Amino acid sequence: MLKILTLIGARPQFIKSAAISRAIRGTFSDRLEEVIVHSGQHYDENMSSVFFEELTLPTPNHHFQLSARGHSDQTAEIIHQLEKIIDLENPKALLVYGDTNTTLAGALVASKNNIPLIHVEAGLRSYNKKMPEEINRILTDHCSSLLFCPSKTAVDNLKKEGIVHRDGPCNSDDPGVYLCGDVMYDNSLYFSDKVKEGTAGHLAQDSYTLFTLHRPSNTDDPDRLKAIYSCLCEFSETFEKHIIFPIHPRTKKAMMHALTEGEWNSFRNHKFINVVDPVSFHEMISLEKNCEFIITDSGGVQKEAYFFKKPCLILRSETEWVEIIDQGVALLVAPDFDDLSKKYQQLISKKLYFPELFGDGKSAEFICDKIVKEIQ
Ligand code: UD1
Ligand code: UDP
Repeated sequence: MLKILTLIGARPQFIKSAAISRAIRGTFSDRLEEVIVHSGQHYDENMSSVFFEELTLPTPNHHFQLSARGHSDQTAEIIHQLEKIIDLENPKALLVYGDTNTTLAGALVASKNNIPLIHVEAGLRSYNKKMPEEINRILTDHCSSLLFCPSKTAVDNLKKEGIVHRDGPCNSDDPGVYLCGDVMYDNSLYFSDKVKEGTAGHLAQDSYTLFTLHRPSNTDDPDRLKAIYSCLCEFSETFEKHIIFPIHPRTKKAMMHALTEGEWNSFRNHKFINVVDPVSFHEMISLEKNCEFIITDSGGVQKEAYFFKKPCLILRSETEWVEIIDQGVALLVAPDFDDLSKKYQQLISKKLYFPELFGDGKSAEFICDKIVKEIQ
């Protein structure tokens, strides 16, 4: 039995880890043992425990409580607590997902303790180091012994930084680099018939826009956030389109700060805009499957738009998921009504094609197989 320690802590990581945990408990139950550590980065019921219940994730073996909320403090606290767990559990490898502060903390602890690091969702780059995730990704990839890339672009990005596949037992100098598809696609397929209606139950199929927002580049500048608010109101009123907006806690706090009380109240009571608390994954999938259109700055949501064959406007100046832009089904958009309405009309008026770009829905099995073969 190979004992691996999985470190997760933010909403998208709970979702991503469901696919690999499922494979470990299924096909690989005689070869892999998983110890799950929850870093405590996300902690609200609707940002954390709802996913463990709904995705039938095992209860974490260790669950940290963080007191700090700043980036450096948060990372340091996770490092501090994780190191003790490494001593206690003595795993053969540490598995991390994506690009959050939790991911970086895991990477540093693995590196300092000479434990092979497995990075799922390796090789993504925005080439914008102002984005906090970018440095997390770069450092994590450079600490990793096994790197699992969801796209060909990700493999190429790693190559540019000198991280290429080497045969033989992997280590951080001679890593294994694999194109494996996207574990989020595995999940979208697996859970697509387990959807839960709720928030949009009263709206006709393909009639509404789904909107999410949480990137600091959008939330932390009050002027930009106000521009996004005005743009959404104008868009929904002009096209008489309902917008469903499950609001991230960070964004809610930022909006309540950036908008006047009157603006915030009129936003929440807007006749076309439905601002709701974060929803569960089953409900999110239902919202994605049944909407007409998605506007988001989320990495995961822009890809799920693709999985469910929905056009998408990405409210950012760049994306790591360049394939979906190249495919012509998503566009970058500014917080500006003219840009938004022009690109919305452009995307809904043409026939869109969604060939399989993110694997075959069996990425988790592929990843577990390589872990068993490569970790000594
Ligand atoms: C983090 C990740 C981001 C990821 C996102 C997924 C980093 C640097 N960022 O961003 O890559 O896309 O998670 O959602 O790791 N908060 C709550 N309750 C919660 C969680 C957060 O109220 O359960 C509020 C707190 O005020 C907190 C703020 O949201 O300070 C930001 O949370 P944090 O985890 O630091 O960053 P995210 O914006 O969630
Ligand atoms: N998600 C969810 N409920 C919500 C918003 C998002 O279940 O209210 C899911 C979404 O379907 C996707 C993941 O959370 O699988 C994306 O996470 P998020 O947008 O927080 O982070 P990112 O992907 O940008 O890192």
